[in-house]
Amino acid sequence: MKKIAKDIFKKHQAQTFPFPSCLEVESAKGSYITDVNDKDYLDFVAGASSCTLGHSNPIIINAVKQQLDKYTHVMVYGEYVQSPQYKLAQLLAKNLPENLSTTYFTNSGAEAIEGAMKLAKRATGRSEVISCKDSYHGSTQGALSIMGNEEHKAKYRPLLPNCNQIIYNDDSSLKNITKQTAAAVIEPIQGATGFITPTNNFLQKVREKCIATGTLLIFDEIQTCYGRLGTLFGFQTYNVIPDILCIAKGMGGSMPIGAFISSWKMMNLLTFEPKLGHITTFGGHPINCAASLATLEHLLTSTIMSEIDKKEQLFRIHLQHSKIKEIRGKGLMLAIEFSSEELAKKVVEQSLENRLILFYFLFTKTAIRITPPLTISEDEIIKGCNIIKGILEQ
Ligand SMILES: Cc1ncc(COP(=O)(O)O)c(C=O)c1O
Repeated sequence: MKKIAKDIFKKHQAQTFPFPSCLEVESAKGSYITDVNDKDYLDFVAGASSCTLGHSNPIIINAVKQQLDKYTHVMVYGEYVQSPQYKLAQLLAKNLPENLSTTYFTNSGAEAIEGAMKLAKRATGRSEVISCKDSYHGSTQGALSIMGNEEHKAKYRPLLPNCNQIIYNDDSSLKNITKQTAAAVIEPIQGATGFITPTNNFLQKVREKCIATGTLLIFDEIQTCYGRLGTLFGFQTYNVIPDILCIAKGMGGSMPIGAFISSWKMMNLLTFEPKLGHITTFGGHPINCAASLATLEHLLTSTIMSEIDKKEQLFRIHLQHSKIKEIRGKGLMLAIEFSSEELAKKVVEQSLENRLILFYFLFTKTAIRITPPLTISEDEIIKGCNIIKGILEQ
């Protein structure tokens, strides 16, 4: 019976990875996913940084159910006044600097990047977009055009023209941002290459170069938003304010939603000449906005964000091992760097056998990701770290 489900999955669902783990999910609660054989797995990945408040959090379930009972979809985004949308936009604005007052809701992170790129072109009248080597901003063609990895792009060319690169943490490459550049799209922590954090005030220097050249600074906070670093947004950890902010993933508290956020004046450019400058049918779906609003309200009123630093330290303390080269990242966005690809692969595979979920990165093969729900307990952190160390001891 179980094998049949796996076969159907492999045959009728598009496959993006040649060796999926095929964990057959029955339910999920808190920091655990339960399979169809009633086995519980401790989740150190959280749907790739998405299940901010853990699985099946009653706060999210109630928000979704309440909205479900009122209405689901009524009209394309931005036409009707819908309370889950405007309340979320208002609470975001209340917790953001003045220049980030106006939110456009999307369905995903990639769409947020697409919208932000268009907005930057419109606002500056320029076409060049700069991103970082090794960056990941999504898989749609605009986002792919600014991806910093040629292997993943080559077979999909031609892509957008005028997409050029700088090197993350390399000041000398900032010369590539010029008066021709519409936008620099930067992840505050570089994700796909294994959670590389900014050094030597790199983000401040990008900010300064953007100001000097009239370039808009877009932060891709699709993975760093909603408390993952211990601040609501990553830019608050690094004290650099972007002109456009892109968020998604954890923003939905496990429901699909994204957004790009700018000043009202800039966003208003999408309203005229031509009108309907950027449209989406389901962007800002009321149910997803309700989940996102509930997540945001809880983050703002609970102690979750203030505990992230301590949880990071706990990971760092309990992952001390001679076979671990480095723990990178910040908050609950951590990467374990191993000396070889084989060891990283072995740890991910054997962790699953030991009922701990870990996952890979897109561009580096020697590191594995740890992005648990922000609600993970100290005991669960220690338990998972001991499983990893146990595997390394073998
Ligand atoms: C930094 C970053 N930007 C953009 C995206 C794309 O988001 P989505 O998968 O929701 O389209 C991701 C997803 O992994 C991401 O990590």
